[in-house]
Amino acid sequence: MSTSTIGQTWNTTAYAAHGRFVANMAGGVFELLAPQPREHILDLGCGDGALTERLAATGAIVTGVDASPTMVAAARARGLNVDHQSATALPYEAEFDAVFSNAALHWITDATAVLDGVHRALRPGGRFVAEMGGQGNIAAIRTALQAVLEPFGIDAETAAASFFPSPAHYRHLLEQAGFTVQSLELIPRPTPLAGGADGMAIWLNTFRNGILDLLPAADRALAVERTVALLRPILADLHDEWTADYVRLRFHATR
Ligand code: BEZ
Repeated sequence: MSTSTIGQTWNTTAYAAHGRFVANMAGGVFELLAPQPREHILDLGCGDGALTERLAATGAIVTGVDASPTMVAAARARGLNVDHQSATALPYEAEFDAVFSNAALHWITDATAVLDGVHRALRPGGRFVAEMGGQGNIAAIRTALQAVLEPFGIDAETAAASFFPSPAHYRHLLEQAGFTVQSLELIPRPTPLAGGADGMAIWLNTFRNGILDLLPAADRALAVERTVALLRPILADLHDEWTADYVRLRFHATR
């Protein structure tokens, strides 16, 4: 099943098969949140609910929110309480002790609208703990896609509509929205990809599906092949095992 949100097309089946590592690598930001039993937590951009479920297992009272109807359905199928809302129009008023987000904020270019909504959603003193792609995230992959898609008339960066801010930029946005920044750091996270020699092609077809979908099927296959060839010397090892050049921005801010 697939659905489009702002600039992306999510295929929940592909995501479940190939995107699980995103939730599995969230240990650091989960620890930074330190969820407590009975506190009210909003999981912003909860996706298919894999981490929301882990949050709920700590005894916290968790609400998930996501803009993708198929992701909302997948998360609700786990028995979670999930709202279907855009992150730029959060309807909550001083309801949560914490807002948590993993690997979602970089999909939304209107960061100010998100941060205003998160600030409103928190009780005074509440915390916003999150991790997202930061400056330099998947830089080699983005550069290769930009080069490969240009002859097809596609500006990959514009089509991706991603937001990978620097620490200084995001600190400024948080402070403008009224938060006090407790910690904020950029963390390089080279991430091994599953799938052996097909690892990068699988990643592109899962996480750049929305952009590749702009092409007819034959061109799409060619674009993937060319992107993989450009990236092989940079991101594959001698055994054709792939590593994606992720960079995370992790922060803890309080209202
Ligand atoms: C990320 O988690 O940083 C990410 C994943 C897929 C595409 C772009 C960024």
